[in-house]
Amino acid sequence: MRTRVAIIGAGPAGLLLSHLLDQEGIESVILENRSEEYVLGRIRAGVLESSSVELLGEVGLGDRIEAEGQPHRGIYLQWPQERHHLDFVDLVGRSVWIYGQTELTKDLMAARKSAGQQAFYEAAAVTLHDIETEHPYVTFIDAGGTPQRIDADVIAGCDGFHGPSRQAIPAAVQRIWERVYPYAWLGVLADVPPSTDELIYAWHPDGFALHSMRSETVSRLYLQVTPDDDIANWSDDRIWDALAARLGHGQDGWKLTPGPITDKSVLPMRSYVQTPMRHGNLFLAGDAAHIVPPTGAKGLNLAIADVSLLSTALVSLFRSRDSALADSYSDDALRRVWRCTHFSWWMTTMLHQGGDDFDAQLQLSQLRWVTSSEAGATGLAENYAGLPIGF
Ligand code: FAD
Ligand code: DHB
Repeated sequence: MRTRVAIIGAGPAGLLLSHLLDQEGIESVILENRSEEYVLGRIRAGVLESSSVELLGEVGLGDRIEAEGQPHRGIYLQWPQERHHLDFVDLVGRSVWIYGQTELTKDLMAARKSAGQQAFYEAAAVTLHDIETEHPYVTFIDAGGTPQRIDADVIAGCDGFHGPSRQAIPAAVQRIWERVYPYAWLGVLADVPPSTDELIYAWHPDGFALHSMRSETVSRLYLQVTPDDDIANWSDDRIWDALAARLGHGQDGWKLTPGPITDKSVLPMRSYVQTPMRHGNLFLAGDAAHIVPPTGAKGLNLAIADVSLLSTALVSLFRSRDSALADSYSDDALRRVWRCTHFSWWMTTMLHQGGDDFDAQLQLSQLRWVTSSEAGATGLAENYAGLPIGF
């Protein structure tokens, strides 16, 4: 089989890249090792930056976001006895949208299907070959057990942190920056209307908590736990008690309403950047090249920004044989990656308990500053609501 772009991974990066290329008449094939149902069922991100929403709207994917997503003007930052609202629209003229990654995945899969683009789900042993040549190819075993080979002009590695693409870049060429944090998030999804109109990020001596949501009837909540914490230690009652304490139930009459928990998982937290994001005819995008801790809600948005840059670069390469944007793709994408890596690290270290009393006082001082100084608040708002894709 032959195609222009062999895309490994059907996460948001791979699916959106395929859609953006299709809009420009460029054919691609997606290889995904999980089933379509598994990919659709994964519960992950929930916040889209304004530039992500604008891009999705421009390429015909805005209708359901418009109808079912929730625009939020800002977030609440809180610590015991204090809750402050940061209004991003007032501060930087941009809002964010609550729209589950599962919903975006549904939209992207539907768009690919209606465009007749090919995808192989449950593809095993996906292996990259000859990425340093003009004739790269990928081999895999399809869902029926048949060995397959796809020849392409370029390979897009959109296969997340555990995929084979980033490992295909020779060790002598790659460089890795990494920080593993001494905490994790316990995330729950609950069938209960959110107890807040906008997200609450809460600093608390027991650990960080976040109240997010998916819709008017579904809440998404997170608690800081230790990375080795066993989910079996967290009964639903214990989770709701911890959330109530950390989110300030009872303060100034605010109440957290508990409800049936439908999903629970523990997520480790790390920052990770691998460079370069292009080697030969392999281009990395999204979590395949970088991971951020979730506190700044950046991972999904970075994946979207990467493939926006990459699709533009590939269109220019294929249409005009102009390799300038492909050559600068890694540097262009990494400028934004490092900005978001810094912001995610900053939000994470401002809000999580590390067990050090001196650090705790610095965190509280920082929180007071970003909630009382327009300059401090504007910096947070500019980064959270998102910088332009080409930043
Ligand atoms: P992925 O979504 O990981 O997709 C990679 C795909 O490649 C997967 O489908 C995988 O199955 C496939 N793959 C892996 N190995 C192979 C292989 N060998 N062969 C073929 N295919 C393979 N980000 C935000 O912006 N905002 C948020 O609010 C937010 N919250 C989050 C909450 C949680 C609980 C989690 C886990 C993440 C959150 N993120 C958030 C991060 C966001 O979900 C990721 O950054 C995003 O999914 C990255 O997209 P991707 O397409 O690069 O990678
Ligand atoms: C969600 C996840 C985040 O990491 C975040 O910072 C805000 C919201 C969410 O899943 O809704």
